[in-house]
Amino acid sequence: MSKNQLDKKSQAWSALFSEPMSELVKRYTASVDFDKRLWQADIDGSLAHAAMLAAQGVIGTDDLAAIERGMAQIRADIEAGTFEWKLDLEDVHLNIEARLTQLVGDAGKRLHTGRSRNDQVATDVRLWLRGEIDALLPLLAQMQRALVSVAEKNTETILPGFTHMQVAQPVSFAHHMLAYVEMFARDAERLADVRKRVNRLPLGAAALAGTSYPLDRERVARTLGFDGVCQNSLDAVSDRDFAIEFSAFASITMMHVSRLAEELVLWMSQNFAFIDLADRYCTGSSIMPQKRNPDVAELARGKSGRVFGHLMALLTLMKGQPLTYNKDNQEDKEPLFDTVDTVRDTLRIMAEMVEGIVVKPEAMERAALRGYATATDLADYLAKRGVPFRDAHEVVAHAVKTCLQRGIDLAELPLDELKALNAAVGDDVQQVLTLRGSLEARNVLGGTAPVQVRAQIARHLERLK
Ligand code: ARG
Repeated sequence: MSKNQLDKKSQAWSALFSEPMSELVKRYTASVDFDKRLWQADIDGSLAHAAMLAAQGVIGTDDLAAIERGMAQIRADIEAGTFEWKLDLEDVHLNIEARLTQLVGDAGKRLHTGRSRNDQVATDVRLWLRGEIDALLPLLAQMQRALVSVAEKNTETILPGFTHMQVAQPVSFAHHMLAYVEMFARDAERLADVRKRVNRLPLGAAALAGTSYPLDRERVARTLGFDGVCQNSLDAVSDRDFAIEFSAFASITMMHVSRLAEELVLWMSQNFAFIDLADRYCTGSSIMPQKRNPDVAELARGKSGRVFGHLMALLTLMKGQPLTYNKDNQEDKEPLFDTVDTVRDTLRIMAEMVEGIVVKPEAMERAALRGYATATDLADYLAKRGVPFRDAHEVVAHAVKTCLQRGIDLAELPLDELKALNAAVGDDVQQVLTLRGSLEARNVLGGTAPVQVRAQIARHLERLK
């Protein structure tokens, strides 16, 4: 075969075709521009397959040696950036195989025995994604550690807790940070679970029905570090639910990131002024000299949209596909790649930014004082002294109304006026009306009392060691 013939994709499906592809169709159907990213997985998968073929006596040991030599060369060329990717060769698989054949001759042509690009690509994507998952898990841990480190310094920092965006009850800033730690901990659990289903080997399913060669699929699985093999060949080549599941994980994680980012943006606004973010995460305005905008947080919030979009793209990609492999599946890669890139970069940058948050406790406390955040404490105080809670609620609502008219806080009502509210009010009432008293009182598992929050911090530190 001449060099020119080797370069032509027509070698992949031979002599049946009587006319060449138009340039437009070639460009439309090719994926090498983006799937060359799978090259390492593709080579690893091929080497495991070839070693198994040789062990089973399907190819010679000399063939295996030639394939290994050729692949080493290809690996080096790709790493050096000198490998020539050809659009004519459609995808990463055909590019590498054609080059292998060019380098080692017939042994290269024997590599594809008992294999199809259908099980090959499914294997490559799984191998690649597994590597990315293993790189993401430590980033989720890092994100949690950053939040815990902020929490450690702020178990006594009082923040107004909100419901309906209205001041509700005082909480500690640490408690608020730990809420996000819980979310990212669940995300990490989810990701570890997704990994189990990603880590199964499709290779050996061949085009769709399995193969007549005596393949040892378990051996290939072991070589490549898979936990097991896909048990149905039709499912093995057509299924992409592992990618969808990963995207669901990524979407939920980005949703959590987005909520945190939204709070950082709000808190940094002059109307709250609860925190400051380091200059390196902000940008100025070209027209308003006073501006410092929290661009990184805003972008993290914004980037959640594209990840949700990719999840929808993958679900839609699969929903109408009859078994088994269809070319539609080639469209799984760009959404998946972009999802991985977006989540990885977002987690990295958010963890760094969170770690460096400048907390402004006075502003937080002032805001908590403005909203009658201890009203529930007064109602609880009365209820604990025998006033039915619904009546206590009513009494306190009147007291808040009085305070509103006079522009003061509950704790600032003179003791005799507090006592006049209800016979159950005693001399000790004012201490329960302070923000700190309110915080200390919520000493229940999962509550905001500093002693509870410190216990949670200890648990997280131990877990994240
Ligand atoms: N580039 C293809 C993909 O990403 C590889 C598999 C092609 N198989 C086929 N029979 N056309 O799915």
